[in-house]
Amino acid sequence: MKKKPELEEYNIDLSKYNNIIIGSPCWFGTYAPPINTFLLDNKLENKNIYLLVCNGGNLRNTWKNYEEILKGNNIVSKLDLVYPIKNGIEEAKKKTNEWIKNNLK
Ligand SMILES: Cc1cc2nc3c(=O)[nH]c(=O)nc-3n(C[C@H](O)[C@H](O)[C@H](O)COP(=O)(O)O)c2cc1C
Repeated sequence: MKKKPELEEYNIDLSKYNNIIIGSPCWFGTYAPPINTFLLDNKLENKNIYLLVCNGGNLRNTWKNYEEILKGNNIVSKLDLVYPIKNGIEEAKKKTNEWIKNNLK
């Protein structure tokens, strides 16, 4: 899962932002490959980073791999949501909103 799939075209200037929220499912013990492409193509530095990962209860290397690829940034907070659709999307939305409210700098 160190793959680097091609992404659809997007247009974003990350230099304008200090706070960046990255959301991804956990696949095979790490963040999903499109995130790998995005983070390799957009070298982030000195950003406040918020990580949200939905998963099935076994994150394995997800946080460690994020810490590695995001070296040079400040990982402020992490939220993991276990099967957010199966376990109730309203509850997941509530948790996410509270997380943002309580942690965003
Ligand atoms: C290809 C694939 C690999 C997955 N690998 C993991 C894994 O290693 N650990 C884990 O906790 N969940 C794993 N999952 C579960 C997903 O993270 C979970 O389905 C996703 O967070 C979406 O949650 P939802 O079904 O409630 O939308 C995997 C799912 C898929 C499709």
